[in-house]
Amino acid sequence: MTVSLASVWNTAPTSAPAQRKDRYVPGSSAHPAKMLPVLAAHAILAYTRPGETVLDPMCGIGTTLVEAIHHGRNALGVEYEPKWAHLARRNAVSAMLDGGNGHGSVACGDARDLPALIPAEHHGKIALVLTSPPYGPSVHGQVRSSRETGQRGVVKRDFRYSHDPYNLAHVPTDALLDAFTDILTQCRRLLRPGGTVVVTTRPWRERGELIDLPSAALAAGEAAGLIPTERNVALLAGIRDSRLIPRPSFFQMKNVRDARRQGTPLHLIAHEDVLVFTKAAPPAGTCRSESSRGSYEQHTYSARKPPTAATYRSRTSTGRHRHAL
Ligand SMILES: C[S@@+](CC[C@H](N)C(=O)[O-])C[C@H]1O[C@@H](n2cnc3c(N)ncnc32)[C@H](O)[C@@H]1O
Repeated sequence: MTVSLASVWNTAPTSAPAQRKDRYVPGSSAHPAKMLPVLAAHAILAYTRPGETVLDPMCGIGTTLVEAIHHGRNALGVEYEPKWAHLARRNAVSAMLDGGNGHGSVACGDARDLPALIPAEHHGKIALVLTSPPYGPSVHGQVRSSRETGQRGVVKRDFRYSHDPYNLAHVPTDALLDAFTDILTQCRRLLRPGGTVVVTTRPWRERGELIDLPSAALAAGEAAGLIPTERNVALLAGIRDSRLIPRPSFFQMKNVRDARRQGTPLHLIAHEDVLVFTKAAPPAGTCRSESSRGSYEQHTYSARKPPTAATYRSRTSTGRHRHAL
């Protein structure tokens, strides 16, 4: 795979199931918000070298790990839900057995405890953090028709991460953003100087209101002491004969059609935002401890006060919202 230098990443030349076919263990498709494998591969190839280590602190079924292993990188994953962590482990083992040159391991736990979950030998050595926070439920789910279910109307399935109220997918948006800032702060401490963080995310609508998660994630990264360096686009749509071919879920399509019927000219979301941050390298001649607050970032990054998640909240979200259906 050659990595394009363009800021628009052509990450859906084939559908998500086609990208995962014969590469992911059965049951993986049940996760409601997986990263596109081509997107993960693009980020890994663009920001790491063979033999380096990639971390996904919210790894779901382990897409980051599988793609890292297949491309000769080592990978660490953390996932809160035991069932997804189990699948991530199985996917990582399958990638190793399938000829991947990298090594992968997965811990089950809360990413806010990252330093305890990641073995000390990796602290300060990780080259890339690649992750995506939980998304709103309107972008998830598959449907079964009345013919399949015997019930009237369509039935939504595979749209939940779990029923655990502490899963960050199920907490109010404000709490998700605070937790995500914490997680990125832990990630920064585990990264090597000059290391990269890539966050993929997209907005969603809740009762008609736009929840601008990409802007919130950008603010969270800055609040975590990371330096924003790029904002790219990863296509969720294919390209045929110079046209974009979106691959929306039934419910995304329904939401857009309903909105248009009511006079709001919405578009289907056919891309993810890819936010890229770096961890400042220490200025030449300094050897300050990264574990203390007020660490060397402040030398290079003090001109502008980083926005907090609260700055974002006052702009886009009312703070009342839950990720409930
Ligand atoms: C958008 S999904 C990531 C999917 C993943 N990139 C993949 O391709 O499978 C976000 C994941 O974060 C997990 N999660 C939620 N709260 C968490 C926490 N506190 N610590 C770690 N993982 C968490 C969810 O269970 C979910 O699997």
